[in-house]
Amino acid sequence: MQILDGKSCSEQIRREISEQVSRLRAAGRRAPHLAAVLVGDDGASETYVANKVRDCDEIGFDSTVIRMDAATGEEELLKKVAELNADDSVDGFIVQLPLPEHIDEHKITVAIDTAKDVDGFGPQSVGLMCLGLPAFVSATPNGVMEMLARHGIETEGRHCVVLGRSNIVGTPMSILLSRNSTPGNCTVTIAHSRTRGLKELCAGADILIAAIGKPRFVTADMVKTGAVVIDVGTTRVPDASRKSGFRLVGDVDFDQVGPKCSWITPVPGGVGPMTRASLLQNTLKAYHNRMRESDV
Ligand code: GUN
Repeated sequence: MQILDGKSCSEQIRREISEQVSRLRAAGRRAPHLAAVLVGDDGASETYVANKVRDCDEIGFDSTVIRMDAATGEEELLKKVAELNADDSVDGFIVQLPLPEHIDEHKITVAIDTAKDVDGFGPQSVGLMCLGLPAFVSATPNGVMEMLARHGIETEGRHCVVLGRSNIVGTPMSILLSRNSTPGNCTVTIAHSRTRGLKELCAGADILIAAIGKPRFVTADMVKTGAVVIDVGTTRVPDASRKSGFRLVGDVDFDQVGPKCSWITPVPGGVGPMTRASLLQNTLKAYHNRMRESDV
């Protein structure tokens, strides 16, 4: 068993970006700027956004957090999105999800300018990605692809089972892995809660991507010996022994499954740090795209 080390891989990416930012600054250019809109006071969202700000600080990006009350209406949030779309000092921005129930997430996602959609959640970003055109790919699938590439994991012709069909992980993951690219060129099956014969299906996978958000759902009998297992799950499970009061648990029973695998991601320290690094990569890309446009 070898560990797909998202922590060191993401540190490498951060170093690369940080060096680029230093070069930009030395040439008298401004730093890339990421903005995040946080509506309400969801604890996990607070942590995610705080981490994004810290990531920006560490690599020399500018960042802005726009906090809005939980009672913020849809129109008001749309107005904020329009402001950020028009703000020349902002290269990319995200609206942290989930949003309060009275706001239609889809309406907000659609309103974000594709040139600044560094989350890659918008329909144009998804469409461009499906067509294999330059696009912002959502952070988790992008991070998984980067991790496979940087570890030289062979994907061509292999059978990949993606467990989970969410818009931001399972679905884009399946498209990226089935594309004629490296990594990619897999034969992909998307499985979900209604899939019949799920155990057998997973047990036939050369590459198994678990993205269903059910702690330790994937057990040893669901994994082929020698498989590559990517655990996207990060469920917060109460743990009184931790200062935070919780610990992160993946979708894969690591202790049982690990010894059967050729490669496996740990939780934490696997996909999570790669997701964070991907947002930085997308922000840098947005910055360069905008700079190119303003040069002509
Ligand atoms: N909520 C959980 N993950 C994400 C993310 O990557 N982007 C946004 N906007 N919200 C999230």
